[in-house]
Amino acid sequence: MPSQQYERIKARLTGYGQPHLLHFWPELSDTERASLLADIERVAFEPLPKLVETHVRGHPSVHIGGRIEPVDTLPARADGKRAEQYEEARRRGTELICQGRVAVLTVAGGQGTRLGYRGPKGCFEISPVRHKPLFQLFAEAILAARRRYAARLPWYVMTSPGNDVQTQKFFEAHRFFDLPREDVIFFTQGVIPAFSHDGLILLESKHNLVLSPDGHGGTLLALRRSGALQDMKGRGTTVISYFQVDNPLAKPVDPLFLGLHDRARSEMSSKAVSKADDLERVGNFVRLDGKVQVIEYSDLPEELSHRRNDKGLRAFDAGSIAIHALDVAFVERLTADESSFALPWHRADKKVTCVDPHTGKRIEPDEPNAVKLETFIFDAIPLARNPIVCQALRREEFSPVKNATGVDSAETARRDMVLRAARWLEQAGVDVPRLPDGRPNAVIEISPLFALDAEMLAERKSEILPIRPGESTYIG
Ligand code: UTP
Repeated sequence: MPSQQYERIKARLTGYGQPHLLHFWPELSDTERASLLADIERVAFEPLPKLVETHVRGHPSVHIGGRIEPVDTLPARADGKRAEQYEEARRRGTELICQGRVAVLTVAGGQGTRLGYRGPKGCFEISPVRHKPLFQLFAEAILAARRRYAARLPWYVMTSPGNDVQTQKFFEAHRFFDLPREDVIFFTQGVIPAFSHDGLILLESKHNLVLSPDGHGGTLLALRRSGALQDMKGRGTTVISYFQVDNPLAKPVDPLFLGLHDRARSEMSSKAVSKADDLERVGNFVRLDGKVQVIEYSDLPEELSHRRNDKGLRAFDAGSIAIHALDVAFVERLTADESSFALPWHRADKKVTCVDPHTGKRIEPDEPNAVKLETFIFDAIPLARNPIVCQALRREEFSPVKNATGVDSAETARRDMVLRAARWLEQAGVDVPRLPDGRPNAVIEISPLFALDAEMLAERKSEILPIRPGESTYIG
C-alpha cells in the first residue's frame, strides 16, 4: 500500500482513539495486511467514540424509569366471544399468504457460543429420529406451506460475515432442501468490534479484529443495506413472518397470527408465552409509560416479577419468544434514513480470546475481559403503530436450543418435539404408548412435509401406522 494511504488510515484510526490496530503492520505479509484492512473497512468508526464513552467505559444505567404495567395480550385460542374475530383473522391471514404478500425471515447470524457447536447453528442436527438440521425443518415447513397455500413464500435468511459462506454452502450441498433457490435469499448483517474495558478495539490476531454480529436488531438495517427490502417490495411482500433459527418448534407461517396482526393494523406484532416461573430468563412484555415493549429479565424489578394480579395470577407473565410479524412498510419507514436510524445498544461482558495490542501475545482470559455490544429486534416494538401481543402455547411453539446441556438445550428441544408429536397423534385419535409416568414410550418425529399442525395430521390419520412401544417412528 502506498505510504500516503497508510498514513491516512493511521491518522483516521488515531482520530478515533484506535491507532493500536496498526501496531503490527510492519511485520505483516501482504495478505495479512489486506485482511486487516478489510476488517477495518467493516467498522463504522464515526459513532464509536460516543458509544465507547457511554457503553464501554461507562455503564449505561439499566434502571428502567417510568411506569411499568402488564401488557394486554390476545389469547392463544379464541374464547367464546372471540371465536368469530379469530375465524375472520385466520381467513385474512390465509388470504395474505395466498396473495403472495408474506415472506418468511429467519435470523441465523448469531455465534451460538453457548451451544458450542462448530458451524452455523442452523446446521445443527436436531430432529429426534432423522436428525434433520434446524434449517431443514424450516425449509420443509416452508415447502409444505407453499403447497398448502399455492404461494411462493420467499425465505430470507440472515447470516453474519462469520457464517455466511458456510451457511450458503450448506444450502447448496442440500440442494436447498427442494425449495426453488431463487426463493431462498441470504442477506448478511453488520458487525461491531469487541472492546477492552478501557475502550480499545480488541485484536483477534495481529491482522484481524474481534468482530461480532451486531445483534438481531441488526436485521432492520441489514434488510435495507443488502437490498433484501427492495427485493421484498419487488415481490409484493407486505408482511414479514420473523423467527429465530434456534427454535425448532417455530411455525414459519401462522395464518391466525398474521391475520390478527393485519386486522389490528399493527406494524409489528409479537408472540408471547406464559412464563415458566417468575424469574425465567426471557424478555418480558410490559407497558412502559403506556408503550408496549420488551424488557430483559434482568431489568424487570424483582418485586414486579413476583407480583400477582387480583386473580392471583402472575401479573408480568408474558415472556417473549422472538416471533414477530413486521410490516415491510414499517422497516422501510424506520430505516429510510440509514445514517440516523439506531436501536439502543445492549452491553454484555464476555471472555474473549485476543492478542495483546503491544506484544502480540495470545490472551486466554479466565475472567470477562471484553465488552460486546448488540441491538435487539424487540426494541423496534415501541416504534411501531398499534403493536399487539398474542399468546402462544409454549408446548406448541417454543423450545429453543441455546445451551449444550440442561435447560434450553438440544435434549429439551428434542423432548418437546416428541411430546408435541405425541399430542398431535392423540388429538388425531392415534394411540401413543405411554410410560407409567405419562411420558411417550416411543421416539416420534412428524415431518413438516407430512403435517404442519394437529389438524393436518388428523386429516391424514389413515396413512399413519401404529406407534410401537419403545421404538423410533418417523411419520413422513
Ligand atoms: P441469541 O441471542 O440466543 O444468540 O440469538 P446466539 O448467537 O444464537 O447464541 P449465544 O448467545 O452466542 O450463545 C437468538 C437468535 O438471534 C440470532 C441467532 O442466530 C438466533 O437465531 N442472532 C443473534 C442473529 O441473527 N444475529 C445476532 O447478531 C445475534
